[in-house]
Amino acid sequence: MGVRESEVQLRGQVRSQVQLGNEGGRQLGNEKNEEGGAGLTRRSFMRSLGWGVAGLGLLSAGVPSACASSDAASAADGPFVLAHGPCLQTPGADEMTVTWHTNRVGVSKVLYGKDTPDASAVASRDGLIPNDSTCHAVRLTGLEPGQTYHYKAVTREFKGYATPYSVKYGDTVESDTLSFTTLDPNKTAYSFLMWNDIHDDCKRLEAMFEDVKWDGVDFTVFNGDIISDFVTERQAFRSFYDASVSRFAKTLPMVFVRGNHETRGPMARHLSDYFPGRNGRQYWSFDHGPVHYVVLDSGEDKPDDNKEYAGLVDFTPYRQEQAEWLKADLASDAAKRAKFRVVFSHQPSAYGGLNDFGVQELRRLWDPIINAAKVQLWLSGHIHDFMQRAPHEGGDNAYHAIINPKDGTTRVEVTPEALQVTVIQKGGKVLTTLRIPAG
Ligand SMILES: [Fe+2]
Repeated sequence: MGVRESEVQLRGQVRSQVQLGNEGGRQLGNEKNEEGGAGLTRRSFMRSLGWGVAGLGLLSAGVPSACASSDAASAADGPFVLAHGPCLQTPGADEMTVTWHTNRVGVSKVLYGKDTPDASAVASRDGLIPNDSTCHAVRLTGLEPGQTYHYKAVTREFKGYATPYSVKYGDTVESDTLSFTTLDPNKTAYSFLMWNDIHDDCKRLEAMFEDVKWDGVDFTVFNGDIISDFVTERQAFRSFYDASVSRFAKTLPMVFVRGNHETRGPMARHLSDYFPGRNGRQYWSFDHGPVHYVVLDSGEDKPDDNKEYAGLVDFTPYRQEQAEWLKADLASDAAKRAKFRVVFSHQPSAYGGLNDFGVQELRRLWDPIINAAKVQLWLSGHIHDFMQRAPHEGGDNAYHAIINPKDGTTRVEVTPEALQVTVIQKGGKVLTTLRIPAG
């Protein structure tokens, strides 16, 4: 073992110790409106969300749960393994991001192609290919719209430097050969599914996976607060990543929208290692069929100087930055040409309840732009309960607003004629149906 090898391993060990050392015993803050009371411990909060013994065993018979995925797969000792993934994220008409995780650091690539995976892509930054992370994300670009590609995630263990000119590699691991289909602005009919506010309760999420029809679904959306404060890496895997990979995400992409709870905790600044958005940016847009979709990052729900944030956040200029980007994006040819414009953000704007600071900021900064661009639908979470507002019913909103509850699935069926929205509560009860016609 060379000196560099020790350093590489030590860095991984330090991160693990930081993660484990912060788990348990914390307070979840005083978000009374959002989470039902101040001063909840993690244990009592999870109990309040129904994550107890009685909440187990919700899956249909014969469907294995991925919620308690083996930590052994992430062990630093033993054989080099692809422990989590691959998971498709950030879809587009000409792009797809493939993410996965190994139990030790490695150098990665994705092999891909229309017939066979004979092309190769790597992630690089400033010309350097990463060799010091267990998190792997490769963005494939230049793809053809509506085209099926076969792909394979490959990582070679990196065992360190003997000298700056001599390195040591270990074993190579690779996924099965899998496939995905890129989005397509010319597609005429498809659906997507959305969940939010899972707060680590993977069993609830898996139960909701069973409530919905998956026929015709082209992508999924996780609209924030899926992870209930990002304290450990294991949370991300256990809360939904592994369950999603097991259920769909190897072949069907997800759109990850950051919630306020994903901005909290010692791992928050590493979130894009797991959910890279578009090249690490958490606000972006994409087109599929007759719809232009906009993903926004609504940040925290209280002023930046709130004592909960310990002087560590700066969301006011970040939301302003997004307002400027949003104005340009919605003025683009793609947005103007689309029959429908749909916005995703974790926090809502049109909300008839308490006027949180975050909600007020979205109204001040984003509502005028979104109204002017004739956005038809804004999908949010955060409140944990279901809410629906018709245009001008929740304030100045010129759009339909749907807040999906923590135990709900929003399914949207898209055709050139209309958006057909259905919100389904866990167990199958339909909370609303809404048809938004074109024009
Ligand atoms: Fe939230």
